[in-house]
Amino acid sequence: MINAVSALTGRAEAPDSAAPPSVGPDPLAIAMTVNGAARSLQVEPRMTLAEALRGPLGLTGTKIACNRGACSACTVWLDGVPICSCTVLAVEIGTRRVTTIEGLARGDALHPVQAAFIAHDALQCGFCTPGMVMSCAALVERQPDLTADDVRAAISGHYCRCGTYPHVVAATLAAARTRKE
Ligand code: FES
Ligand code: FES
Repeated sequence: MINAVSALTGRAEAPDSAAPPSVGPDPLAIAMTVNGAARSLQVEPRMTLAEALRGPLGLTGTKIACNRGACSACTVWLDGVPICSCTVLAVEIGTRRVTTIEGLARGDALHPVQAAFIAHDALQCGFCTPGMVMSCAALVERQPDLTADDVRAAISGHYCRCGTYPHVVAATLAAARTRKE
Protein backbone atom coordinates (compact mmCIF):
# COMPACT_ATOMS: atom_id res chain seq x y z
CA MET A 1 0.00 0.00 0.00
CA ILE A 2 1.26 3.52 -0.77
CA ASN A 3 1.67 5.54 2.42
CA ALA A 4 0.69 9.21 2.71
CA VAL A 5 4.26 10.60 2.68
CA SER A 6 5.11 8.60 -0.40
CA ALA A 7 1.95 9.71 -2.15
CA LEU A 8 2.60 13.39 -1.40
CA THR A 9 6.36 13.48 -2.03
CA GLY A 10 7.04 10.69 -4.46
CA ARG A 11 9.81 9.45 -2.15
CA ALA A 12 10.28 5.73 -1.66
CA GLU A 13 8.06 4.16 1.01
CA ALA A 14 9.73 3.20 4.27
CA PRO A 15 9.14 -0.47 5.13
CA ASP A 16 6.29 -0.93 7.62
CA SER A 17 7.91 -2.92 10.42
CA ALA A 18 4.52 -3.56 12.09
CA ALA A 19 3.03 -5.29 9.05
CA PRO A 20 2.86 -9.11 9.25
CA PRO A 21 5.01 -10.94 6.70
CA SER A 22 3.08 -11.53 3.52
CA VAL A 23 2.68 -15.15 2.40
CA GLY A 24 1.51 -16.88 -0.74
CA PRO A 25 0.24 -17.36 -3.29
CA ASP A 26 2.57 -20.35 -3.40
CA PRO A 27 1.81 -23.29 -1.07
CA LEU A 28 3.25 -23.21 2.43
CA ALA A 29 4.40 -26.12 4.58
CA ILE A 30 2.33 -26.30 7.76
CA ALA A 31 1.76 -28.83 10.53
CA MET A 32 -1.37 -29.54 12.54
CA THR A 33 -2.68 -32.17 14.92
CA VAL A 34 -5.63 -34.03 13.43
CA ASN A 35 -7.39 -36.83 15.30
CA GLY A 36 -4.45 -37.08 17.69
CA ALA A 37 -1.80 -37.44 14.99
CA ALA A 38 0.76 -34.84 13.91
CA ARG A 39 0.29 -34.16 10.20
CA SER A 40 2.43 -32.13 7.78
CA LEU A 41 0.97 -30.72 4.61
CA GLN A 42 1.33 -28.09 1.92
CA VAL A 43 -1.50 -25.57 1.62
CA GLU A 44 -2.13 -22.42 -0.32
CA PRO A 45 -2.81 -19.57 2.15
CA ARG A 46 -6.37 -19.28 0.82
CA MET A 47 -7.19 -22.94 1.58
CA THR A 48 -9.84 -23.50 4.26
CA LEU A 49 -9.52 -26.13 6.96
CA ALA A 50 -12.37 -28.05 5.29
CA GLU A 51 -10.50 -28.09 1.97
CA ALA A 52 -7.24 -29.12 3.67
CA LEU A 53 -8.97 -31.98 5.48
CA ARG A 54 -10.66 -33.30 2.36
CA GLY A 55 -7.72 -32.63 0.00
CA PRO A 56 -4.15 -33.06 1.22
CA LEU A 57 -5.20 -34.94 4.37
CA GLY A 58 -7.65 -37.27 2.61
CA LEU A 59 -10.29 -37.02 5.36
CA THR A 60 -13.40 -36.85 3.20
CA GLY A 61 -15.83 -37.56 6.05
CA THR A 62 -16.09 -33.80 6.55
CA LYS A 63 -18.55 -32.47 3.96
CA ILE A 64 -18.64 -29.10 2.23
CA ALA A 65 -22.10 -27.91 1.21
CA CYS A 66 -22.61 -24.11 1.30
CA ASN A 67 -18.88 -23.32 1.78
CA ARG A 68 -19.83 -20.03 3.45
CA GLY A 69 -20.63 -20.77 7.09
CA ALA A 70 -24.38 -21.13 6.65
CA CYS A 71 -25.21 -24.85 6.90
CA SER A 72 -22.79 -26.49 9.40
CA ALA A 73 -22.24 -29.54 7.16
CA CYS A 74 -18.48 -29.05 7.57
CA THR A 75 -18.48 -29.07 11.40
CA VAL A 76 -15.34 -30.39 13.11
CA TRP A 77 -13.93 -29.78 16.59
CA LEU A 78 -11.18 -27.29 17.24
CA ASP A 79 -9.81 -27.97 20.73
CA GLY A 80 -13.05 -29.85 21.41
CA VAL A 81 -15.36 -27.04 20.28
CA PRO A 82 -17.54 -27.48 17.16
CA ILE A 83 -16.71 -25.00 14.39
CA CYS A 84 -17.53 -24.66 10.70
CA SER A 85 -14.31 -25.73 9.03
CA CYS A 86 -15.15 -23.82 5.83
CA THR A 87 -14.81 -20.55 7.74
CA VAL A 88 -11.26 -21.09 9.05
CA LEU A 89 -8.06 -21.04 7.02
CA ALA A 90 -5.76 -24.03 7.39
CA VAL A 91 -2.82 -21.71 8.03
CA GLU A 92 -4.64 -20.32 11.09
CA ILE A 93 -4.93 -23.62 12.98
CA GLY A 94 -1.47 -23.63 14.54
CA THR A 95 -1.23 -25.84 17.62
CA ARG A 96 -4.98 -26.27 18.14
CA ARG A 97 -6.28 -29.85 17.98
CA VAL A 98 -8.57 -30.75 15.10
CA THR A 99 -11.03 -33.64 15.48
CA THR A 100 -13.05 -34.89 12.53
CA ILE A 101 -15.75 -37.52 12.17
CA GLU A 102 -12.97 -40.05 11.43
CA GLY A 103 -11.52 -39.41 14.90
CA LEU A 104 -14.63 -39.96 17.02
CA ALA A 105 -14.59 -43.77 17.30
CA ARG A 106 -12.15 -45.58 19.56
CA GLY A 107 -10.93 -48.43 17.38
CA ASP A 108 -13.99 -50.48 16.49
CA ALA A 109 -16.10 -48.84 19.21
CA LEU A 110 -18.27 -46.09 17.77
CA HIS A 111 -18.88 -42.96 19.81
CA PRO A 112 -22.28 -43.30 21.56
CA VAL A 113 -23.70 -40.60 19.28
CA GLN A 114 -22.56 -42.46 16.15
CA ALA A 115 -24.10 -45.69 17.45
CA ALA A 116 -27.34 -43.92 18.41
CA PHE A 117 -27.65 -42.29 14.97
CA ILE A 118 -27.58 -45.79 13.47
CA ALA A 119 -30.00 -47.23 16.02
CA HIS A 120 -32.47 -44.35 15.59
CA ASP A 121 -32.17 -44.12 11.81
CA ALA A 122 -31.12 -40.47 12.16
CA LEU A 123 -29.94 -40.03 8.60
CA GLN A 124 -31.21 -40.30 5.07
CA CYS A 125 -28.85 -39.05 2.31
CA GLY A 126 -26.18 -38.57 4.99
CA PHE A 127 -24.70 -35.39 3.62
CA CYS A 128 -25.38 -33.34 6.76
CA THR A 129 -24.72 -36.28 9.09
CA PRO A 130 -21.00 -35.94 9.90
CA GLY A 131 -21.52 -32.34 10.93
CA MET A 132 -24.64 -33.22 12.95
CA VAL A 133 -22.77 -36.01 14.72
CA MET A 134 -19.87 -33.71 15.60
CA SER A 135 -22.17 -31.11 17.17
CA CYS A 136 -24.27 -33.70 19.01
CA ALA A 137 -21.18 -35.56 20.26
CA ALA A 138 -19.67 -32.33 21.58
CA LEU A 139 -22.93 -31.66 23.43
CA VAL A 140 -23.01 -35.15 24.95
CA GLU A 141 -19.35 -34.82 25.99
CA ARG A 142 -19.83 -31.53 27.81
CA GLN A 143 -23.34 -31.98 29.25
CA PRO A 144 -24.43 -35.40 30.56
CA ASP A 145 -27.99 -34.30 31.43
CA LEU A 146 -29.76 -33.22 28.28
CA THR A 147 -33.20 -32.09 27.27
CA ALA A 148 -34.63 -32.16 23.78
CA ASP A 149 -34.33 -28.36 23.71
CA ASP A 150 -30.60 -28.64 24.45
CA VAL A 151 -30.20 -30.87 21.43
CA ARG A 152 -32.33 -28.60 19.25
CA ALA A 153 -30.13 -25.64 20.28
CA ALA A 154 -26.95 -27.61 19.48
CA ILE A 155 -28.14 -28.44 15.96
CA SER A 156 -29.88 -25.15 15.29
CA GLY A 157 -27.26 -24.12 12.73
CA HIS A 158 -27.42 -27.41 10.83
CA TYR A 159 -29.48 -27.67 7.65
CA CYS A 160 -30.86 -31.10 6.84
CA ARG A 161 -32.73 -31.20 3.55
CA CYS A 162 -33.98 -34.68 4.37
CA GLY A 163 -35.68 -33.51 7.58
CA THR A 164 -34.08 -35.95 10.00
CA TYR A 165 -34.29 -33.57 12.96
CA PRO A 166 -36.72 -35.58 15.18
CA HIS A 167 -34.55 -38.69 14.86
CA VAL A 168 -31.39 -36.70 15.51
CA VAL A 169 -32.89 -35.38 18.75
CA ALA A 170 -34.02 -38.87 19.83
CA ALA A 171 -30.61 -40.34 18.99
CA THR A 172 -28.70 -37.70 20.92
CA LEU A 173 -30.88 -38.07 24.01
CA ALA A 174 -30.34 -41.83 23.84
CA ALA A 175 -26.58 -41.34 23.47
CA ALA A 176 -26.53 -39.08 26.53
CA ARG A 177 -28.32 -41.80 28.54
CA THR A 178 -25.78 -44.37 27.33
CA ARG A 179 -22.94 -42.07 28.24
CA LYS A 180 -24.26 -41.65 31.80
CA GLU A 181 -24.69 -45.38 32.29
S1 FES B 1 -20.10 -26.02 4.26
FE1 FES B 1 -19.33 -24.98 5.98
S2 FES B 1 -21.09 -24.10 6.89
FE2 FES B 1 -21.83 -24.96 5.05
S1 FES C 1 -29.71 -36.59 5.91
FE1 FES C 1 -29.85 -35.67 3.94
S2 FES C 1 -29.36 -33.59 4.31
FE2 FES C 1 -29.53 -34.44 6.26
